[in-house]
Amino acid sequence: MHILPAEALSDTAYATVDVLLHSQTSRARQANVLVFRYQGRLYAYVNHCMHMHRPLNCQEDAVFDPERRWLRCSMHGFIFEPDSGVCRSPVCEGQALRAIKVVEQDGMIVFKEKQLQVLAVHPVKTASGHKHD
Ligand code: FES
Repeated sequence: MHILPAEALSDTAYATVDVLLHSQTSRARQANVLVFRYQGRLYAYVNHCMHMHRPLNCQEDAVFDPERRWLRCSMHGFIFEPDSGVCRSPVCEGQALRAIKVVEQDGMIVFKEKQLQVLAVHPVKTASGHKHD
């Protein structure tokens, strides 16, 4: 499932994609997926912070800290390892964002999940937050 041209996603940007996740055991459910690059590699996670069940960009557009070390929920600042989705904030320590398989293929960013249907691709946004001095 092609979602956008690879060149559209720079290292300082992310895209969000509305999808339908099918399951053999329960009804399909709608979700939003966050797609970004980290140290040159592509990653995608269901955009759902387990703290209060909000998207990471619910409060601000930024989904990274200013140094781009952590994925960071804009609501209360919970942080996640960008390359594993594992939460590093004490309240959700050990839990992880659900990873979605994503690759770059023929110049396009493509989801590699059989049970996933793309509904809408939203405009690319800037990933890092501002420094608060
Ligand atoms: S909802 Fe994400 S940190 Fe609270």
